[in-house]
Order: sequence, then structure tokens, then C-alpha cells
Amino acid sequence: IQRSFSSSVVRNVVIKNVTIIGGGQMGAGIAQVAASTGHSVTLVDMTDDILKKAMKGIQGSLRRVVKKKFSDDPESGDDFIQKVMQNVSTTTNPAAAVTTSDLVVEAIVENMKIKQDLFGFLDKMAPEHTIFASNTSSLPISDMASATSRPDRCGGLHFFNPVPMMKLVEVVATSSTSPETSESLLNFTKALGKTPVCCKDTPGFIVNRLLVPYMMEALRLHERGHGSKEDIDIAMKLGAGYPMGPFELSDYVGLDTIKFITDGWREKEPDNPLFAPSDLLNKLVAEGKLGKKSLEGFYKYNK
Ligand code: NAI
Repeated sequence: IQRSFSSSVVRNVVIKNVTIIGGGQMGAGIAQVAASTGHSVTLVDMTDDILKKAMKGIQGSLRRVVKKKFSDDPESGDDFIQKVMQNVSTTTNPAAAVTTSDLVVEAIVENMKIKQDLFGFLDKMAPEHTIFASNTSSLPISDMASATSRPDRCGGLHFFNPVPMMKLVEVVATSSTSPETSESLLNFTKALGKTPVCCKDTPGFIVNRLLVPYMMEALRLHERGHGSKEDIDIAMKLGAGYPMGPFELSDYVGLDTIKFITDGWREKEPDNPLFAPSDLLNKLVAEGKLGKKSLEGFYKYNK
């Protein structure tokens, strides 16, 4: 009888205990969704203050969910919130947080060295079967995996903002990710009520690889004087059926984020015209006009 063996020592991990490192915008959202779907979640960040803020944010977001879902039964809504909140614990000690973890999802600052240090450190603390996933938007997962002794149990889980609303998760496999790890990550994503797509560990995966050059092309078209921001936005909304135009979307994503991503890609592929810099983007970022979050980007916003 022929049997196929995988490099992974672990098969089909069913993910129940989830450790999320980074309780910012994305980490808090992932924690909320995982806790809402019955997972046991430990949320880790650097200070108790940040964690308190994250928990408050999760509670507020759950209230909005419940208002819609339980509109005619507010009591069940309150019960739901309480149950979900009970599924989340917080700590500033990542080493302690991973000792019973099936899955670690990293959603910290977008910096390779810091992510590698975290993965390398947690690798020594986490049980053998624990899968490590990164929510990075722009950095190679394989570089993080190489900081561990378990590259077969490393992959990407790329969520979209706002996590409770956005249905998609890009499940990223590097050349070392085992099929069992991919399967566990796909199953986890489905258990969250999300729709997964499989991606390779390539810059921008699927969504950002198409979306960021599109936003940059809109910018360049405008810079050449071939269309106003307003007209380009109207054109793509009414002509292509997009819910936001490229400039509205850029402001929503954050102009600093778009610059950071394109700058990173350009370093790897300097001759790719899709990754060419934009003077207008650089100028706005230098002026601190980062989009919605700073109340001004391509457009102005009220608080
Ligand atoms: P954020 O700045 O809102 O949150 C990051 C959190 O990580 C902060 O609370 C910070 O205190 C914490 N942190 C930093 N270093 C840490 C460490 N060593 N240990 C524990 N906690 C640490 O950032 P955001 O937007 O949530 O992004 C996080 C990750 O998610 C990044 O890798 C980003 O590329 C990715 N991402 C962001 C999206 C977005 O739209 N904001 C979308 C998809 C992915």
C-alpha cells in the first residue's frame, strides 16, 4: 500500500483556540468575528489601555450588529453580546497566550523585522500543532515563516476592513505551507462565516494586486490632466458599477497605505510601470493628507 506523507507532523487541526496578536483595527475585528462564531479568542497587544480600547470597540461593533439582527428581541441581543464577550480574553503576554493555541493570527504593525521577531519568539512557545498566520497586506508570508521552525504550518489569512462586514478572506499558501495547514485555514475561514479564496504568496495576493495598480492608474490619468477626480469617480461608479470611485476608495484605504504598498512593490520590481510613483500621492502623504482618517486626502471630510 502506498501512502503519501506530508512534511507536516500535524494533520487537519480543527481550530478552536485562536490567539490574535495586535488589537488594532484589524485584530479587534478578527477577534470579534472569531468570538461571534464560538471560538475561544485571546487578544494580545502591548498595553492594557490598547486592549481596553479594543474590547470597547468590539462591544460597540457588536451592539450595531445586534441592533439589526435582534431588532425585535433586544434581550436575546444582550445575551448574544455577553456570550461573545465571554469568548474573548486579553493579555499583554504573547508567550502565555499561545500555549493552548490552535492558531495564531498576527495583525501587528506592517514591518517585516518586527513580524519575524514575533513569529520566531512565538515558535518557541507554541505547541507543535499551532498554525501561524499573518494578516499582512503587502509583505511575503514566506519571509515570516522562515523565522520559525514550522514553515509548513505558516500561511496567510488576509482579512478586509471592516472585518465584520467584509465577506472575503484570502487564504495564502507559501511554497512550504502544507496541504493540511491550507485546509485547516480554509475550514477556519468558513467557520467564521466568510468566503475564502486560495492565493499564492505573491505581492498583493489577488485583491490588492489588482486594486492598488487600478487606484494608481486613476491617479496617473488625473495627473496627466485627462480627467477630474470627481469625473473619474463618477465614471467608475456608473460605468463599471463600482460602489466607490478610485479616489474615494484611496481616501478610504489611506493614502499612506497605498504609498507604502507601491513603494514596497517597486523595490522588488523597479521597472514595472504599474508600480511607478506618483508626485501627487507623495505630496499629499508628505502634507499629512492621508484620506478619511485625517479628514483630508483627495477629498475633505467632516468629523
Ligand atoms: P493598527 O495600527 O490599527 O493595529 C496594530 C496593533 O498592533 C496596534 O494596536 C499595536 O499596538 C499592536 N502591535 C504592534 N506591534 C505589536 C507587537 N509586537 N505585539 C503586540 N501588539 C503589537 O493596524 P491595522 O490596520 O489593524 O493593521 C494590522 C495588520 O493588518 C498589518 O499587517 C496590515 O498590513 C494588515 N491589514 C490591514 C488592513 C487595513 O485595512 N487596515 C487590511 C488588511 C490587512
